[in-house]
Amino acid sequence: KSNILTDTFGRKHNYLRISLTERCNLRCTYCMPADGIQLSPKAHIMTYEEIYAIAKEFVDHGVTKIRLTGGEPLVRKDAALIIEKLASLPVELTLTSNGVIIDKFIDLFKKCGIKALNVSLDSLDDTKNKEITRRNYFEKVYQNILLLVKEGFHVKVNCVLMKGFNDNEIIDFINLSKNFPLHVRFIEFMPFDGNQWNMDKLVSLQEILSQVNANFEKDRIVKLKDAPNDTTKSYQIKDYQGTFAIISSVTNPFCDGCNRIRLTANGQIKNCLFSSKESDVLTALRKGKSISPIIQKTVQSKFKIRNGMDTIEKFKKIDGHNNRSMITIGG
Ligand code: GTP
Ligand code: 5AD
Ligand code: SF4
Repeated sequence: KSNILTDTFGRKHNYLRISLTERCNLRCTYCMPADGIQLSPKAHIMTYEEIYAIAKEFVDHGVTKIRLTGGEPLVRKDAALIIEKLASLPVELTLTSNGVIIDKFIDLFKKCGIKALNVSLDSLDDTKNKEITRRNYFEKVYQNILLLVKEGFHVKVNCVLMKGFNDNEIIDFINLSKNFPLHVRFIEFMPFDGNQWNMDKLVSLQEILSQVNANFEKDRIVKLKDAPNDTTKSYQIKDYQGTFAIISSVTNPFCDGCNRIRLTANGQIKNCLFSSKESDVLTALRKGKSISPIIQKTVQSKFKIRNGMDTIEKFKKIDGHNNRSMITIGG
C-alpha cells in the first residue's frame, strides 16, 4: 500500500490495538488504581458501528493486524458481534484477555479464524492471584489457558513480574512450557496512572536471565529469533514444547521496530503506549469529517523512543498523571 502509516523515523504502522471497553471483571493492582477509575460516559464510548468504521479506515491505511484489548474485551456486551464484524476485514485478528470467560468464546474464535490469544496470569498460586487481581478466578483462568491450548490456539501467557511478589515463580512458569506448547512472557512492570510503580519493584530482563542461567544448563537454553516488530526476546528450554520470552519495555525498549498504534474505547488514538497526547478520531467521525488526516498526523508526531523518555533516568521521572491507567489503554 502506498499510503501506509509511516512515521518520521521510517517505521511502518500496520498493527492496531483497539480497546473495546474500560470495564474489567478483575481489579489487577498494576493495571487499575485501588480506588477504581472514572469510567467514560457511555455516550463517549465507541459503538459497534464506529469501531468498525475506524478500523476500516486503518485497514485502508495498510493495517494488517488488529488486537482487541480492554479492560477485558470479552465483558463488552456486543463483544461477539464486534469480533465477527472485524473478522470480515483482511487482517490477522487477535485478543489479549484475562481468560476468565474465554471458554464461552471458543466456538466464535474458531468461526472467525482467530488463531492466537494472549492471556494474563501473574502467579501460579491461588492466594497470590487473589492478592493481585482482587478477585478469585485463578482455577478458572488456569483451566481456560489449558483449554485454549488443547483446542489448538497459539497461546501466550503474560506474566507481569514484581519484586518479592512473583519473581520466585519464574522457573515454575518456564516449566509450564515443558509439557504444554504455550508461550510464557515475563513483562517488566511499567508505570501508569495510579499503579504505584517504582523502579525497585521492577524485575529486569537481566535479573530474569540470571535466574534462568542459574537453573538450566547453558546448552539447554536456546535463544530464538524474534521478528523485528516483536516486543519480546524469546527463548526455549531444549526439548520443551513451548517457549518463554521477556518483554523489557523499561530496561531494553524495543521502539526501533515499533509498528503499533492504539485506539482507546472512547475513540482516542495514541501513537505510543506512553504518549500523553491523544487524537480524538471519534468526535471527528461523529461530525462526519474525514479521520484519515488525523490518523496520519498522529503517526507523524511519534517520538523515536517511549514518547521521548529515551533514557531510563527520564523514564523513572514519568508523571503517571499525564497518561491513563493501563485499564483504559489496553497494553
Ligand atoms: P503480540 O501481538 O502477540 O506480539 O503481543 P504483544 O506483546 O504486542 O501484546 P500484549 O497485549 O500481549 O501485551 C504484552 C505486554 O507488552 C503488555 O505489558 C503490553 O503493555 C506490552 N506492550 C505491547 N505492545 C507494546 C508496545 O508497543 N510498547 C511497549 N512499550 N509495550 C508494549
Ligand atoms: N506493566 C506491565 N504490563 C502490564 N499489563 C497491564 N499493566 C501492566 C503494567 N503496569 C499487561 C497485562 C496484560 C497486558 C495487556 O498488559 O499483563 O496481559
Ligand atoms: Fe512503540 Fe511507544 Fe512501545 Fe516504544 S514505548 S514500542 S514507541 S508504543
